[in-house]
Order: sequence, then structure tokens, then C-alpha cells
Amino acid sequence: MSIKKIIAFGSAKGGVGKSSITASIAKSLSKNYRVGILDADIYGPNQHLLFKINEKLDLRSRVIKPFKKNNIKIISMGFIIDDDAAATWRGPMLSSAIKQLINSTDWGDLDYLLIDMPPGTGDSYLTIFKELDVDHFIIISSINSLSVSDSNRTISMLNKLNVNILGYIENNIFNVNYKEDNDLFKTKNINKLGAFTFHSEIYDFDPDYDCNEANEISKQIMEIA
Ligand SMILES: Nc1ncnc2c1ncn2[C@@H]1O[C@H](COP(=O)(O)OP(=O)(O)O)[C@@H](O)[C@H]1O
Ligand SMILES: [Mg+2]
Repeated sequence: MSIKKIIAFGSAKGGVGKSSITASIAKSLSKNYRVGILDADIYGPNQHLLFKINEKLDLRSRVIKPFKKNNIKIISMGFIIDDDAAATWRGPMLSSAIKQLINSTDWGDLDYLLIDMPPGTGDSYLTIFKELDVDHFIIISSINSLSVSDSNRTISMLNKLNVNILGYIENNIFNVNYKEDNDLFKTKNINKLGAFTFHSEIYDFDPDYDCNEANEISKQIMEIA
């Protein structure tokens, strides 16, 4: 098993499009590369739903094999527990679950493993960065000031943990008009990898949709990651 590059997609805030964007970028990269997605949002796993995979993993086997859909290998807590169960788990159970997912999965050979990070900056981040050698982090931010100020917290934490920030992706879900690229990212010297606007095929996720914006951003990622 070898994984060439591990790239985490995250934001402090929920609902800014981490899962949708991770899935869209995975689709673009998978045209030319071997790609996997680790859905690390253990409280609210989504990747199994986005890719419409209705399967459960057998945890009695020592090695977990990801499910393959649209040429992407996917692992998610959604394959282990029912969609309504995770919300009631406590911290230690969750971090041991994520550890088990990480350490028991046989990905085979991958060019890119993309991690759909949980919201927040807490324990789950520490666990993931301890268990996995993450090469790059991509920040997802909507353009409003709340999302941007939350990104500030994400940046501080990543700096503390010495995680390389590859850049940010702006997700303009509501197609709002605005004048300038955001100052926070500029002052912190964080490169804008590109932007998404609203797509109905992302809103109601269609795993067969070929998204131009995702293709453009993926090109950038392939060049610099
Ligand atoms: N570019 C986009 N176009 C349309 N809908 C989007 C877009 N980005 C996100 N969404 C929608 O916004 C909601 C939150 O996105 P999601 O990917 O679940 O965010 P997160 O993983 O950060 O919580 C979802 O309903 C999703 O379909
Ligand atoms: Mg999500």
C-alpha cells in the first residue's frame, strides 16, 4: 500500500461546503489519478450519501476495504454506523473509531488521499494529524465575515501543528457579489486556489456531474501539491 499525497479539506465552520468540494475535487482528480476519500467527519458523515453508496462494512475483518464508486475509493463512518447514531457518541469513542478507520483501511496504491475533515478545531484534528502524515491542508471558506473569521482560527491551529496550508477555496454558494478577495487570506499570505459558485448539481449532489470549477482548481492542485 502506498499513498503519494494526503490532502485535508477543512474549515472551522460547518456547512461551508467541505464535503461537497472534497467530493467534486476528487472527481476531477480521478480522471487522471488514483484517488481515495477518507470521510473523517465522524459525527456527520456525508460521503457515502454524496456517492450514493448503500453498504455497510464488516468490522470483524482485520482489514477494511474501501468501497469504490465513480473510480474513487471511499471510506466513511457512514459505512459503519447508521446515519442517526454517530451524533450521540462521546469524544474518546470517536477518536478510537477514527483511529481504527485510519489504521485498518487497505487503500491499495493511491496518488491522492483526500480527507473530508470534521468541522471545528478540536480533538479529531489532533487525532487525524497524529495518525496520518498529512502533506497539505486546503481551507474551504464562504465569503462572509463569519466564515472568514473562523478560518482565522483554523489557520492558527494549523500553524501550531506545523501543517502546510496549500491555499484556500472560496465557496460562493449564494452567488453573492463582492468587490475584493479576502484580506485575511492576503495578509496571511494564503494563496487562493479558486472559487466555486452555486451549482444545482452540487446542491443535490450528482456524482456524475463534471464541474468546470472543480477541474480548474484540480489543475492548480496537481501543479503545486
Ligand atoms: N457550490 C455549491 N453549490 C450548491 N450547493 C452547495 C455548494 N457548496 C455546498 N452546497 C450545499 O451546502 C450545504 C453544505 O455543504 P456541505 O458540503 O455539506 O458542507 P460541510 O461539509 O462544510 O458541512 C449542502 O446542502 C450542499 O449541498
Ligand atoms: Mg461535511
